[in-house]
Amino acid sequence: MKLLECGIKNFRNVFDANICFTDGVNLIKGNNAQGKTTVLEAVYIFARGRSFRTNKEAEIINFESGTADIEILYEDRQSKNKMSAHYDKEEKRKLYKNGIQINRISEFIGNFRAVLFTPDHLSLIKSSASDRRLFLDIALSQIDPKYIIYSKKYNLLLAERNALLKDRYAEENTVLFETLAEQMAPVAAAITRMRKEYCGRLKKYVSEYFVQMTAGIEEAAVEYESCAADDTSLLLDEKLVTDLYYKKFTENTAREINFKGSLYGPQKDDIDIKLNGYSSRKYCSQGQQRSLAIALKLAEGDISADISGEYPVYLLDDISGELDSKRNAFFMSQLKQRQIIITSCNIKNTKKFDNVITMKNGGVVV
Ligand SMILES: Nc1ncnc2c1ncn2[C@@H]1O[C@H](COP(=O)(O)OP(=O)(O)OP(=O)(O)O)[C@@H](O)[C@H]1O
Ligand SMILES: [Mg+2]
Repeated sequence: MKLLECGIKNFRNVFDANICFTDGVNLIKGNNAQGKTTVLEAVYIFARGRSFRTNKEAEIINFESGTADIEILYEDRQSKNKMSAHYDKEEKRKLYKNGIQINRISEFIGNFRAVLFTPDHLSLIKSSASDRRLFLDIALSQIDPKYIIYSKKYNLLLAERNALLKDRYAEENTVLFETLAEQMAPVAAAITRMRKEYCGRLKKYVSEYFVQMTAGIEEAAVEYESCAADDTSLLLDEKLVTDLYYKKFTENTAREINFKGSLYGPQKDDIDIKLNGYSSRKYCSQGQQRSLAIALKLAEGDISADISGEYPVYLLDDISGELDSKRNAFFMSQLKQRQIIITSCNIKNTKKFDNVITMKNGGVVV
């Protein structure tokens, strides 16, 4: 996968920019607040379907403008493609591929694939379970559109169930709870199976990277942790997990009415990452946690390549300043053969980069 060009209009502080990218490592440099991360944010919208910095679309439109437009030209193994997005403060955003409007997000995500790595990801190990689930959700959405469909369906049903749990007459709604449990259990089982499979793939790559990083001294393990069953080997059996979820959803309703929210389901799950057999969350040093985050991000690209046949584009937002030289060198050495777009405000020697883009006041310096 190769990003060739990106066009940006009235997107945050970028009024009008057209940026060309090359193979290898593309550096976007410039002082603070010049629009470097804004470029990555715009590009990553085509991979994730929305901004990685905000849930409110109006925020990305320039303060002085009513609309914003972004587009990319990229090349995959088959063809060159153009994707674009139009944002309007008054209307829902519109997405296009090769000039044709796409209404379903499941048809938009997965075309242009990218792995984003920001300083926030360096705390993926010690941050909340919801951040780790988000990591899985974003990665899986890009490799399988079915995952987006299941997630959307499950979230709608969950919202309905949570509203029902808060209802004053919740206790009287037994039939409705059962109907919802019947609908939710198979979708929850499908999401769990896909996440469990993904964690199996992560485990292979993360442990391999750790062997390389530590000359075989430290052993990393990744496992999907689900409230459906303690025995994780069962999680691939969708039929069995459907039954397990159905039981969880129907047998705990009284407690959940009291709690005023759902206590079980994939929205409660986590990734359990161990180093030398011990929980990385509880026992790892900050350096070890950062190494694990690097391994997870490298693995995300490897898995995407295994499934699609080509590496995604790597978008690195100012992470080199956060990593010590050894970890940075390891990370960059593993990214050979991949297209990288990296932002930085303090790189002096730009000779080692294949393409250098300088941003100033939201524009590209020519
Ligand atoms: N909707 C908006 N309209 C206009 N300007 C905005 C909008 N949203 C954010 N900005 C401004 O855009 C500027 C660029 O932000 P950006 O995060 O891209 O900078 P950066 O070059 O990555 O800086 P740093 O090196 O500090 O990370 C900031 O000054 C921010 O206040
Ligand atoms: Mg930035």
